[in-house]
Amino acid sequence: MSSLTSKHLLGLRDVPAEEIQLILDTAKEMRKILDSDNKKASHLQGKSVVTLFYENSTRTRLSFEMASKYLGATAANISASASSVTKGETLIDTGRTIEQMGTDVIVMRHSMSGAPHLLSQYVNCSVVNAGDGMNEHPTQALLDMLTILNHKGTLKGLKVAITGDILHSRVARSNIWGLRKMGAEVVVSSPSTLLPANIEQTGVRLAKDVTEAVQGADVVMGLRLQLERQKKALFPTGREYSKYFGVGPEVLSHAAKDCIVLHPGPVNRGLELTTSVIDADNSVINEQVHSGVAVRMAVLHLLTSK
Ligand code: CP
Repeated sequence: MSSLTSKHLLGLRDVPAEEIQLILDTAKEMRKILDSDNKKASHLQGKSVVTLFYENSTRTRLSFEMASKYLGATAANISASASSVTKGETLIDTGRTIEQMGTDVIVMRHSMSGAPHLLSQYVNCSVVNAGDGMNEHPTQALLDMLTILNHKGTLKGLKVAITGDILHSRVARSNIWGLRKMGAEVVVSSPSTLLPANIEQTGVRLAKDVTEAVQGADVVMGLRLQLERQKKALFPTGREYSKYFGVGPEVLSHAAKDCIVLHPGPVNRGLELTTSVIDADNSVINEQVHSGVAVRMAVLHLLTSK
């Protein structure tokens, strides 16, 4: 397999395992460019990439921009808050306007689940979902998988514990789809108020608490508490959340000896993970950012070379 079926990347739910493998294999090659002294390749020469973000971002937005530039594309950014969206322009009109400027790929983040899917029906260029509401964040899950592969060599048969605010997490959803397709066992734990209904229908196992979830895990993934999406109090206090649902050294002592710790960032230090866990030698949170550039280079290359 040498190309992706779809010209868009909207979520991992609809991407077959072979295509996830292709992206990960391509990302490994892209990481060689990223790690070289000369980060200037021509895979995207003559192509244009625009990031259109309706929500804030540090990692995703900047890494798409850097990925585009390392591969020779013209890259531009637009924030909804500083655009004609504030004058009432619709998503579809905004997308069509961007496309008319010669854009080959629109990378889009939106607070509404399904927004990139909608836009993809109205433009001819490729659309990449950089996070839509509580639905999916496919390139985050791909970079998580690339990081895990770098340490474990395979995803098949690994036990991955995902802990925290699963209800609001597009990262969790993309990881569940992706990791399960690639043969990993996924165990989740969360306060009941932050757990989606019928989560087990996605093929994950629901642990009774965080210690049980982490038991024997090869990978522990903490999730950010998405306070901005919580309209009412879903847990008593931050202190109680960290004590009963967070991951600290004691909880982590139940994981496999060579367990690695991931978090998509930004981290609420002391809430979902303790500072000692975040900064420990087996934490790969900074490496995830590095993997993110390689994965986005791979995705942009594969989508524009069809
Ligand atoms: N992980 C993630 O999506 O981070 P940003 O919000 O900084 O892009």
